Amino acid sequence: MDFWEVIESRYSLRDFDPSRDVAPEEVEKILRAAIRAPSAGNLQPWFFVVVREAEKKEALARAGLDQRFIARAPVVVVVCADPDRSAMRYGGRGVNLYCLQDTAAATENLLLAAVALGLGGCWVGAFNEEEATRALDLPSHLRPVAIVPLGYPARPRTRRTPRRDLKEVSAFASRLRP
Ligand SMILES: Cc1cc2nc3c(=O)[nH]c(=O)nc-3n(C[C@H](O)[C@H](O)[C@H](O)COP(=O)(O)O)c2cc1C
Repeated sequence: MDFWEVIESRYSLRDFDPSRDVAPEEVEKILRAAIRAPSAGNLQPWFFVVVREAEKKEALARAGLDQRFIARAPVVVVVCADPDRSAMRYGGRGVNLYCLQDTAAATENLLLAAVALGLGGCWVGAFNEEEATRALDLPSHLRPVAIVPLGYPARPRTRRTPRRDLKEVSAFASRLRP
């Protein structure tokens, strides 16, 4: 798949093929793509927890407001931010903005890499952070920011998710105001 095909093919996959696991080498490749993301000051304030245990995936699904597809994925990556790492150089902006942007960039890389390998996943942001922290017994300096269930699609995608028109969401600066 070339770059544009990967971009066009990515969608939020929530229906995983239960008969196909994700190989450890595939997970490693995906995480290597994630850490190629840009980060403010190249501080890389991220940490990725790979979850394969059924009971931990169950606990994450419960933390994720009972989004059951989380538990049904063969592997779940929990993307964590390390706000202190960003704070050391950037203070409040590091905590409130950069570490979240950095981990968001890593999450998108991760999803695109999964697609390039024929896998798919879903960026899950609706979850209780305290419960997710407890489910994984995360160290206190890590903030879980995204739960990403990954796997092979159960069936081919049937429709593209719509987007707002490009004209509605972009403009030349010179034409921003009449
Ligand atoms: C920050 C963020 C949080 C999201 N949280 C959830 C979620 O909790 N559950 C879910 O099913 N999808 C979640 N999504 C996926 C979006 O629903 C999805 O990206 C959007 O509907 C566009 O569809 P597409 O990804 O198939 O293009 C989230 C996406 C982002 C970027």
